[in-house]
Amino acid sequence: WPWLLGMLVSGYLIGSIPFGVLITRAFGMGDVRKIGSGNIGATNVLRTGNKAAAALTLLLDGGKGAVAVLIATSLYGGLAGQLAGLGAFLGHLFPVWLGFKGGKGVATFLGLMLAFSWPVGLAACGTWLATAVVMRISSLSALMAAALTPVWLWVFGQEPLIWLSILLGALVWIRHGANIRRILAGTEPKIGKGK
Ligand code: G3P
Repeated sequence: WPWLLGMLVSGYLIGSIPFGVLITRAFGMGDVRKIGSGNIGATNVLRTGNKAAAALTLLLDGGKGAVAVLIATSLYGGLAGQLAGLGAFLGHLFPVWLGFKGGKGVATFLGLMLAFSWPVGLAACGTWLATAVVMRISSLSALMAAALTPVWLWVFGQEPLIWLSILLGALVWIRHGANIRRILAGTEPKIGKGK
């Protein structure tokens, strides 16, 4: 138990670093939580108009998930990697530093998948990108990527990761409740625009 908890907590501490907030502040753009959707993710950082800040947020939010998995896996093996990955994802969603009000987990989810299995990660990123190219809606792209990742895990023979991906994918969907309502109402903004 102390070991399991140790993996979860170390992952959590890495995942809880709120890069969107730190980067928008560092770029002198104020607090990303006060603009657009109020989310701390790269999509909302892009609504400031600063593409570099958005790209950096995407890379670092994804990177922190990947780093948590890679370190834990190399030290203690696959189960440790899954626990650290779960911790990192929960850290992004519920960071202690922001009063447990964090992001929606998309970049971190993709970073985790790339670290678990790069073909699965690329397929998940490809799903996001293909949806984004056709629909121009970030949240819808994220919902599609989260929903299809268990299928990609199966296709690429990564069955042991399917349960974790279903849990994380369900959390991604739950965090997108307001987005789903806007998508259904036809009012969800296109990438780089609106609220
Ligand atoms: O990564 C989150 C994205 O799927 C939606 O972000 O700001 O449009 O709610 P946002």
